[in-house]
Amino acid sequence: MTTAVCPGSFDPITLGHVNIFERASQMFDEVTVLVTGNPEKPSGLFSVHERMELIRQSVDSRINVDYWSGLLVDYTSQHGVDVLVKGLRSSLDYEYELPMAQMNRRLSGIDTVFLLTDEKYGYISSSLCKQVAQFGGEVTGMLPDPVVQAVKEKYRR
Ligand code: PNS
Repeated sequence: MTTAVCPGSFDPITLGHVNIFERASQMFDEVTVLVTGNPEKPSGLFSVHERMELIRQSVDSRINVDYWSGLLVDYTSQHGVDVLVKGLRSSLDYEYELPMAQMNRRLSGIDTVFLLTDEKYGYISSSLCKQVAQFGGEVTGMLPDPVVQAVKEKYRR
C-alpha cells in the first residue's frame, strides 16, 4: 500500500488544490491532505481548524485531512508516509519547491512527486483569491463553493 501526503498551508483550499488531491487519490492507495500550521497561533485568514473543515467540505470523504505544526518529515516518518505530492503551476513554483523537496529527501529519504496543475487552474492561488475577494471581486469557479461562502463571510466582518 502506498500512502501520500499533500502538505500546504491551504489558507484557503482552491479548486487547483482539489484537482491535485483527486489526481493523487487515483495514483496512491491513501491520500492525506496535511495542513501545516499551529492551531494555537492564529496566522492567515483562516485558523488551522477552519482550513481543515473547509477541506473536508470540498474533497471526497476517502481523502484524509490532518494538521501538523512541526517538521514535515517528522510527520511522514511517524506515519509511515511513502511520498509527498505537490502541484506545480509554473517555473516560479518549481524554484520554490525544489529546495524543499531536496531538503525533505536529504532529511528523511522521502521523495516529492509533482503533478502539473490543470491548465484551468494555472493562475489560481489562495493569496490572489483572497485579494480579489477582499475588494469584492468574484471568486466563484476558483474556490470550492463552501470556501467562496466562507471567504465572503470573513471579509464581510
Ligand atoms: O502552501 P505552502 O505555504 O506553499 O506550503 C509550504 C509547506 C507548508 C509545505 C512548507 O513550509 C513546510 O513543509 N512546512 C513545514 C515545516 C517544515 O518541514 N519545513 C521545512 C521544509 S523543507
